[in-house]
Amino acid sequence: MTSTLAASTTLAAGTPRPSGSDAGPAVDAGRVPAAAASGTARPASVARRRSAVVGTGQRAGAYLDAMTAEHADVAEVAALCDTNADRLDVRAEQVRGRTGVPPRRFGAPDLGRMLSDVAPDVVVVTSPDRHHAHHVTAALDAGADVVVEKPLTIDAAGMYSIADAVRRSSGRLTVTHNYRYAARNAAVRRILAEGRIGDVVSVHFEWLLDTAHGADYFRRWHRDKAASGGLLVHKASHHVDLVNWWTGDVPESVYARGGRHVYQHPDGVGGPEFAIDLTADADLSALYAGPAALDGYRRDRDPFSPGATIEDTLSMLVGYRSGAAMTYALTAHSPWEGHRVAINGTRGRLELDVVERCHARPGLEGLVVPDGGAPACCEVRRRGGRLVVQEQWGVAEEVPLDAEAGHVEGDAAMLRDVLRGHLPADRGGAGDDPLGRRAGLVDGLRAVAVGVAGNRSLATGQVVPTSALGVDLA
Ligand SMILES: NC(=O)c1ccc[n+]([C@@H]2O[C@H](COP(=O)([O-])OP(=O)(O)OC[C@H]3O[C@@H](n4cnc5c(N)ncnc54)[C@H](O)[C@@H]3O)[C@@H](O)[C@H]2O)c1
Repeated sequence: MTSTLAASTTLAAGTPRPSGSDAGPAVDAGRVPAAAASGTARPASVARRRSAVVGTGQRAGAYLDAMTAEHADVAEVAALCDTNADRLDVRAEQVRGRTGVPPRRFGAPDLGRMLSDVAPDVVVVTSPDRHHAHHVTAALDAGADVVVEKPLTIDAAGMYSIADAVRRSSGRLTVTHNYRYAARNAAVRRILAEGRIGDVVSVHFEWLLDTAHGADYFRRWHRDKAASGGLLVHKASHHVDLVNWWTGDVPESVYARGGRHVYQHPDGVGGPEFAIDLTADADLSALYAGPAALDGYRRDRDPFSPGATIEDTLSMLVGYRSGAAMTYALTAHSPWEGHRVAINGTRGRLELDVVERCHARPGLEGLVVPDGGAPACCEVRRRGGRLVVQEQWGVAEEVPLDAEAGHVEGDAAMLRDVLRGHLPADRGGAGDDPLGRRAGLVDGLRAVAVGVAGNRSLATGQVVPTSALGVDLA
């Protein structure tokens, strides 16, 4: 079984904590010889790019895994940067175990020194959302290409500073909107591009996180709106990006309503179903249980504990430049997990229904969303995706979808694209991108603009034009 969680932590499995002289210093103390830094010998014909990863937590695992295994012929992990020296050690040891070469380690205050000393070709930004703007602009200003996890940033100031940095930098910015790489989402893009339902006039999008997965956003930094932008930015940016990409349209106005209705309790305590035991999982234990002693960053807080400032129930009405509108709803406490999309066009309608998990599972297991290979367990709500297109005067047609893993399958394709994008197809490159899946600055800005404007709408009760953010979305 694999998942949003497991996919990003595979590297850590069974890895012992570093100790003794092998582990090296807690943070990098200076330059290392070029031969050691460049790793194993490589064929002259393959351009192997040197990467630095900023933020070495859960998500970084997906990149480190890919760069030290399937794509090790084109990528080298040259340096890691994090606030937590123990997590740095865990990740560095994983890389050393795979490649024989430990990456250099830098504490967060030494980001600038890392960029100048290591001079990475690529900086992968997998730090918490509120730090993306600083990390992306610093890396671009150092001339590196940047791969940043969604969301691009969490507010208008971050949008502005990143857009400005892209303009003055020779580096290329990629925003990893991995949902674009899932086959079912590509199928929607193809059908709309073929014009089968005409011009899109309305989109109705509902996303359901179940009580296991949804609660996870209330366990750590995501629960603080100043750190994550709340679920309208952190989570909905995935979904808004899909709609922007499917339709090629630009969001212009947002009206949002929402609140926190479930993850709060007069006593500040959730039920036992909401507790997770990190020590039951080797990956999570190594990454978070031990390192928490250094900085107090706990991965397993009670989601009902006081202090959360984000909503668990959200609705938006988004106006698009073409005149189309989207109604959007996000629920982070549903009894089942999945999403429903309906798209109405001038010549027909498309419907995508996806069940990721038919009922929530408490505890650590609940953090794992099953992949396509796991057995379906509910008769009433069977796991899988269903895509139906119906043209005017025509009968409904079901578009076949592979039994797919969604997130997992999307991640693998996205990582291939990102890590091999610099090579021609006949030399192991990622190949053409006929669907335009590679997302850059404008895609990243448009994806977060809706949530950033939505947060202003939540605060003011007003419709907020995206132009009020002061950043060009053209
Ligand atoms: N595309 C997806 O499906 C997907 C899935 C999971 C996470 N993400 C994104 O990946 C990013 C990381 O998420 P995560 O779940 O790995 O979080 P995490 O908290 O597990 O990891 C973040 C890491 O950054 C470190 N960090 C904190 N402040 C830092 C700083 N100033 N400088 C350097 N490092 C710092 C933390 O110590 C931690 O090791 C987020 O932006 C998140 O939105 C995307």
